Amino acid sequence: MTIIDGKEVAAAARREISAEVRKMTDSGAPAPHLVAILVGSDGASQTYVGHKEKCCHEVGFRSTVMRLPQETTQAELLEKIAALNADVNVDGFIVQLPLPPHISEQKIIEAIDQRKDVDGFHPVNTGRMISGLPSYLPATPDGILSLLKYYQIDTAGKHCVVIGRSNIVGRPIANLLSQKGWDCTVTLCHSRTANLKEVVASGDIVIAALGRAEFVTADMVKEGAVVIDVGITRVPSDKTKSGWKLLGDVKFDEVAPKCSYITPVPGGVGPMTIISLMQNTLRAARGEVYGKR
Ligand code: GUN
Repeated sequence: MTIIDGKEVAAAARREISAEVRKMTDSGAPAPHLVAILVGSDGASQTYVGHKEKCCHEVGFRSTVMRLPQETTQAELLEKIAALNADVNVDGFIVQLPLPPHISEQKIIEAIDQRKDVDGFHPVNTGRMISGLPSYLPATPDGILSLLKYYQIDTAGKHCVVIGRSNIVGRPIANLLSQKGWDCTVTLCHSRTANLKEVVASGDIVIAALGRAEFVTADMVKEGAVVIDVGITRVPSDKTKSGWKLLGDVKFDEVAPKCSYITPVPGGVGPMTIISLMQNTLRAARGEVYGKR
C-alpha cells in the first residue's frame, strides 16, 4: 500500500513552475499575475486565499488580493470583474466562493472572461473540457489527475467509481477520467444511487467527493483499489492547537490496508488544488488556452 504524498508532488510542481517563471522573466516578459477577490470575512475562505497568495510568492508570480466588505453589492462586484477582464496586467483571477447570499454565484462566474477564468468554473470552460478542447480545468479534478500521473497509476479500462456529483469535483472528474488518454469506465454515484455499497466495492478506483466525514468504510472497498479522498470536513478536536482537525470522506485507518494507493487527509489532494490554479495562471499568461491577447 502506498500513501500518495500530495505535499511532495506539489513541491515538485512548484519547483517546475518557478523554473518556468524564471525563464519568462529572464526573457523580459512580466511574471504571471493572479488576482483573488475575497468578499466578506469567512474564516476558511481567508485561509484558502492566504495559501494561494503564499504559493504565488513562492513560484514568483505577481499576486493581488482584493478584499471587499460583506455588504458589497452584486453590481459593485460585477464592476470589479469588468475592470479585471479589461486589465491587460492581469492574466487570471478568481472570486473566492462561497459568496454572501445576496450575490448570485452563477452570475458572477459567468461575468468572468473565460480567458481569465483560472478556476475553470465558467460554462465555456466546462463545455470545452467536456468536448475535450483546451480549457482551464477546475482545481480539484486537475489535482487528482496530476497525482494519478505522478504515481503512474494505470487507469485504462479500470472501473472508476466517483461518489458525489458536484459541479466542481464529481462531475468534472467523472467526465475527465472517461476521456481518451485516461480511458476509465466511470460510474458517478450520488445520494439517490441504489446499492451504493456494492457499486463502490466494484471500483478499481474510488473517488470520494461527497463531503461526509469517514463515509467510505473498509467493507465498501475492493482489495487493491486506488482510493482518492477529496473530503475536508472540519471537526472539533482537543488534540490540536486550533481546536479542530480535518477528516476526509474515507475512514483512512481501516480502508488504507486494503488499498494499492490511497490519499491521506490532509496532505493528499488538498495541496494539489493550489498547484492547479498556478498552472492555469501560467497557461493564461502564456496564452496557451485561448491564444495571446
Ligand atoms: N472555494 C472553495 N474552493 C474554491 C475554489 O477552488 N475556487 C474558488 N474561487 N472558491 C473556492
